[in-house]
Amino acid sequence: MARKPLIAGNWKMYLTVADAVELATAVAASCKGLTDREVMIAPSFLAIVSVAEAVADSPVRVAAQNGAWKKEAALTGEISPFMLIDAGVNMVILGHSERRHIFGEGNDIINQRVLGALEYKVTPILCVGETLDQREQNNTFTVIEEQLTEGLKGVGAEQITEVVIAYEPVWAIGTGKTASKEQAQEVHAYIRSLLVTLYEKTLADEIRILYGGSVKPENVDSLMAQPDIDGALVGGAALKAESFDRIIHFK
Ligand code: PGA
Repeated sequence: MARKPLIAGNWKMYLTVADAVELATAVAASCKGLTDREVMIAPSFLAIVSVAEAVADSPVRVAAQNGAWKKEAALTGEISPFMLIDAGVNMVILGHSERRHIFGEGNDIINQRVLGALEYKVTPILCVGETLDQREQNNTFTVIEEQLTEGLKGVGAEQITEVVIAYEPVWAIGTGKTASKEQAQEVHAYIRSLLVTLYEKTLADEIRILYGGSVKPENVDSLMAQPDIDGALVGGAALKAESFDRIIHFK
């Protein structure tokens, strides 16, 4: 089964509410008539309701940059998947390297977040990726295997095709250094082989694996041409309407 490409913009801690709505409106205009690919944007929590309203009549999907696992609870600073659905948001980025490495989120908590998202029908984008140190020590595959198997613990075969995986080598995020298309494809193929082992081939073939880390208008076409790269998770280049437009329209 053909996997529909997903181009996802992660706006991180950028843009005021007004600027977010302006950019979201431009992204919606870029997506007019596009049916062969999906587009998603992840604004800050403060802008998320206004952005969801601004793109409500377009195919653009809105995602949160993190999410908790219960409907409601005493969890200061967290947003629940139930609240996301209530706000018109049905996707969530989980386990982003900035959450893992700056805020110390480990595989256990990320796994809870994945299970919570699935319970409330919010599509999780589970991010995995090695640091430069781990790559140089030849530990890339070990790290990816651990992040993937622990992050997906308890996700059943009936739910796995709802999950999106994002491979984001930490050394390529926000650094301008992109993994080469061969380096990215190698890890994507490895992730898919792990999914075959954890689930089965027909399911693994349906799961979208995005690449993230300095995706730009100049490199998106060659990355997207790789057989196991099914989309992009874009940070910096998603903050400008023109560059994101070019990425959305990858060839
Ligand atoms: P970048 O960020 O495109 O700025 O490298 C990607 C990400 O963090 O998702």
